[in-house]
Amino acid sequence: MKALGTYLHLRIARLVIHASNLLLFLLISKEHSAGGTGKVYIVMNKETKEVFAIKSIRKSTIIEMGLKESILLEKKIMQLIVHPFIMRLISAFNNQARIYFLMPLFPASDLSLQLRMRHRFTDEKVVSFIILQIALALGQLHAVNLIFSDLKPANILVESDGYIKLADFGLSQYLEEGDKSKSFRGSYDYMAPEIIMKKGYTKAVDWWALGILVYELIIGIPPFYHVNLNQSVQRILNSNAKWPAKENPHYKVSPIAINFIERLLDKNPLTRLGASSTEEVLQHDFLTQYYDVSDVFKKEAPSPWKPHIFFQVNQEGLIDPQTVQESKVSIASMKFVMANHDLFDEFD
Ligand SMILES: Nc1ncnc2c1ncn2[C@@H]1O[C@H](COP(=O)(O)OP(=O)(O)O)[C@@H](O)[C@H]1O
Ligand SMILES: [Mg+2]
Repeated sequence: MKALGTYLHLRIARLVIHASNLLLFLLISKEHSAGGTGKVYIVMNKETKEVFAIKSIRKSTIIEMGLKESILLEKKIMQLIVHPFIMRLISAFNNQARIYFLMPLFPASDLSLQLRMRHRFTDEKVVSFIILQIALALGQLHAVNLIFSDLKPANILVESDGYIKLADFGLSQYLEEGDKSKSFRGSYDYMAPEIIMKKGYTKAVDWWALGILVYELIIGIPPFYHVNLNQSVQRILNSNAKWPAKENPHYKVSPIAINFIERLLDKNPLTRLGASSTEEVLQHDFLTQYYDVSDVFKKEAPSPWKPHIFFQVNQEGLIDPQTVQESKVSIASMKFVMANHDLFDEFD
């Protein structure tokens, strides 16, 4: 694993591009992101100093990889679903070469970087707080017959106060009630056994992935991780998650957390926690013991953690995390970007 310094350096080593009033100055998506079809940059309105994140996807890539339908679905989800824990699109536009999704910038980046900063979350209350929001977001997607299909730390954006938003709906899929998907997609570490078996699967794959996520946040690596992909697949199909010895003073995992994870990592999707309803997941002690669902939903519960802020301001006032709160993203600024979208022709 690369040291964080090297990692950030790689991410910042992109050319600064000036285009009229719009300044594109930082590539923030991971270069190595496997399923990643686009690139995410920070973009700033030089007049107002407002900053945004912008995801740029080449039209040629969309055509070559046959992604038109999935990119349209990605856009629709972020435009139509209004939910406190689902990423909202400010606007979408395109030019001849690319399409763009303009979003609020999350200065605390994503949960994979937060995890790298601390290796693992030792306070289960923090994990419960984060997972409760994700369960609510997944429940909302499921309610409109969508499978998220790509749950992992890199697709969970972190607000400055520690609340989160589910993002990246590039692999999401619409599934009619009673249907099964056979599409092979997702990240291996998070893939449910039934996806690998290719016999058809339902939204229960998202609950499996939630189990993997809780484990990764608490222990530091996904439960079936192996450098050799075949070994990893074998583990997903045949092994159970392993737990640190009870007497290990560095890893303390509560019985409630273990039960929650094991119920989600049930290899049988029909008996897996969440198979019959989202409520089943929300009512598990791991999620009810610290927080009231409605307090969290309304964002009235005080966040139990302080994330690391990655995008800090420089002397020119280029990025000030305090100024990029979602609430400050103005319509005027959005119109400005829309009116100038030809500028994006010059993007590399
Ligand atoms: N609005 C945003 N604010 C801050 N970082 C973001 C934002 N959107 C995406 N990112 C970063 O870019 C990465 C890739 O974005 P994502 O939408 O997941 O695209 P991909 O399809 O490339 O995985 C994320 O993992 C996150 O690190
Ligand atoms: Mg992603």
